[in-house]
Amino acid sequence: MKSLKLSPAQRASVELEIRKRRRLAPRITLLPHQIPPDGDWVRWILLSGRGGGKTYAAAHYVDEYARANPGARIAIIAPTLGDARKTCVEGVAGILSFNRNVKFNRSWGELHWPNEAQGTLFGAHTPDDAERLRGPQHHLVWFEEMAAARELEDSWTNMRLGLRLGDRPRVIISTTPKPRPLLKRLLDDPGTVVTRATTADNPYLHESVRTELYRLYEGTRIGRQELGAEILDDNPDALWTREVIEASRVSRVAAMNAGLQCRGFRKMGTVTCLTISRCRGRLMRGLSRQ
Ligand SMILES: Nc1ncnc2c1ncn2[C@@H]1O[C@H](COP(=O)(O)OP(=O)(O)OP(=O)(O)O)[C@@H](O)[C@H]1O
Ligand SMILES: [Mg+2]
Repeated sequence: MKSLKLSPAQRASVELEIRKRRRLAPRITLLPHQIPPDGDWVRWILLSGRGGGKTYAAAHYVDEYARANPGARIAIIAPTLGDARKTCVEGVAGILSFNRNVKFNRSWGELHWPNEAQGTLFGAHTPDDAERLRGPQHHLVWFEEMAAARELEDSWTNMRLGLRLGDRPRVIISTTPKPRPLLKRLLDDPGTVVTRATTADNPYLHESVRTELYRLYEGTRIGRQELGAEILDDNPDALWTREVIEASRVSRVAAMNAGLQCRGFRKMGTVTCLTISRCRGRLMRGLSRQ
């Protein structure tokens, strides 16, 4: 008899259907991209399209890690503190969905496992958020939707300097990719292991949802990024290329010293004058007079 060759996603889909029909509770079955590669990795990047199962995989990993490592110190960073609370902890695929014995102190943004492992939530939206990562030390860090974090570089650097507990501190990055320079650097780093998936690789999304998303976005640039998890470089129609944007970033202090202020500046950290091109010209002239 000819054997049926199913992809892992199709196999998971069939198993899910069988368990549903038999009225069995769904079993935790990780998809291939939700399992970190074997070996002594220090950084795992899980890139997937929207709904590809990133949060589920990372939350599951964090919970397993905490259960296996009493007293572990874990940081959970998301683009905002609210995202960390709502998605990483309380969300449908968040940590509490895997372990009801974890106590969550919402006001302190802290998770406590019965074995004294502890998780702390951080945002990465403002310079103050980035500063909160100065001081605490961790064994494990989960950076959720890293490519969407506004204060990314400073948050990453502060986190990285505090990732120093135990003999093998680790970081997991779960994100839909965007062409952020840090993400590209990390993907090129030999210390990084990567797993990838598209939205279509998650059989736990309802078929009709996947079909509709692909009907709306397949073949578009947004579809390539948000469903296909491709890192897209510049839009050929864009007025400014990413190279120009990155090259135009100056420190706030330098901008202030040049006596310049404009509406397009971000308030703190590095500033990029993008919104008003005349302003950018003035900034450049101001800086070149320094
Ligand atoms: N292995 C799995 N077993 C059962 N359900 C899963 C599994 N992986 C993902 N799911 C479910 O699929 C849905 C999408 O997963 P998840 O939220 O983790 O995707 P995501 O990639 O984080 O999405 P987004 O890009 O929107 O953040 C969730 O409802 C989640 O519970
Ligand atoms: Mg998610």
